Amino acid sequence: MKVLITRRLPGDYHKLVAKDYEIILWDKDEVVSREFLLDNIRDVDGILCLLTDKIDKEVIDKANKLKVISNYAVGFDNIDVEYAISRGIVVTNTPGVLTETSADLVWALILSSRRHIVSADKFLREGKFKGWDPNLFLGYDIYSKTLGIIGLGRIGTAVAKRAKGFDMKVIYYNKSPKPETEQYLLKEYNLKVEYRDLESLLKESDIVSINTPLNKDTYHLITYEKLKLMKRTATIVNTARGPVIKEDDLVRALKEGLIFSAGLDVFEFEPQVNKELLELDNVVLLPHIGSASFETRQKMAEIAVNNLLLVLQNKEPLYSVNYHQLKNAIL
Ligand code: GLV
Ligand code: GLV
Repeated sequence: MKVLITRRLPGDYHKLVAKDYEIILWDKDEVVSREFLLDNIRDVDGILCLLTDKIDKEVIDKANKLKVISNYAVGFDNIDVEYAISRGIVVTNTPGVLTETSADLVWALILSSRRHIVSADKFLREGKFKGWDPNLFLGYDIYSKTLGIIGLGRIGTAVAKRAKGFDMKVIYYNKSPKPETEQYLLKEYNLKVEYRDLESLLKESDIVSINTPLNKDTYHLITYEKLKLMKRTATIVNTARGPVIKEDDLVRALKEGLIFSAGLDVFEFEPQVNKELLELDNVVLLPHIGSASFETRQKMAEIAVNNLLLVLQNKEPLYSVNYHQLKNAIL
C-alpha cells in the first residue's frame, strides 16, 4: 500500500508509516503543487495533507483507491467532505491537541493589538525612543472589559477560560446556545458566560474573538454593516478562517476608525494579504501560526499519522469528520 504525504512534519512520525507503507513525500519547503497532487493521488491508499491543500472533487475523482484523507489541522474546509462521503472516503482531523496553544495565540493578538506591541517594538528599533512620554503608544485596557466570543467550541472555550484572569465579562454567540459549556465554565472556572445574538454581542463587546469553523453559515459573517455595530474603541481578532470576515470591509472599517484595532492570523485569500492591510498600523498581522508550538505541532503529527494508519487498518480513527456518517451509510 502507498500513502501520499504533502509535507515533512515535525517529529519522526512518518517513520511509523514507512514501516508498512510506501511513502510518496512532497519534500519541498512550500505548499504541494496541484500537479504533484493530481499525479500522485491516483494509486495511493491514503493521503496526509495540510490545510493549504485543496482536496476537492477534481482531486478525489483522480483517486482510484483512496480510503482516507488525514488532515493535519482541526479545520477541514479545504476538503470537499460531502464528496468524500459519496466516495466512501474517511476524512480525519486533529482537534483537541491544538486547543490551548491556539487559545494562547488569540490572547497574544488581543494584547498586541490593544497595546501597540508590534508598532512600539518597531519604533524602538528604529531609534525613535527619546525618553518616557505620557502620550506614547496609548492603547485600550483589556482587564475588566467585555470579551465577545463568536463560536464557543473547544478553542472558544479555552479563550474564555483565560479571560478569568483579566476579570472580564464574557459573552458569546454560537449557532445555538451551549448550556453545557456555560455550566462547565461556571463549575470549573467560576466563570459566567452569557449567550447573545450576533448583533448584541458586537455592540456590547470591547474585544471580539472569532473562533468558529468556516462553513456556509459563517462565510462573510462579519461585514461592514456588522463592524459598524462595534464600539469605536473595540478590537476584533480572527484566528479561525479568513473568509469569516469580508476582508475589504474590515480594511474600510480600520481606515475609517470604525473600530480601534484588529489582530489577524488568517486571511480571506491566504496566503495573499490585502495590500491595504499592510499599510495600516492599527492591525497586527500573523502568518497563520495559531497552533505553532513545538509541542503541539508534534502532537498533531502523531494524531494525523495515527488517524491515517487506523483507517488503513480498517479501524476507527482517533478523530474523524465523517466516520460515523460513513459507517451508518454502509450498514
Ligand atoms: C489551523 O488553522 C487548523 O485548522 O488546525
Ligand atoms: C496594533 O494595533 C499596533 O499598534 O501594533
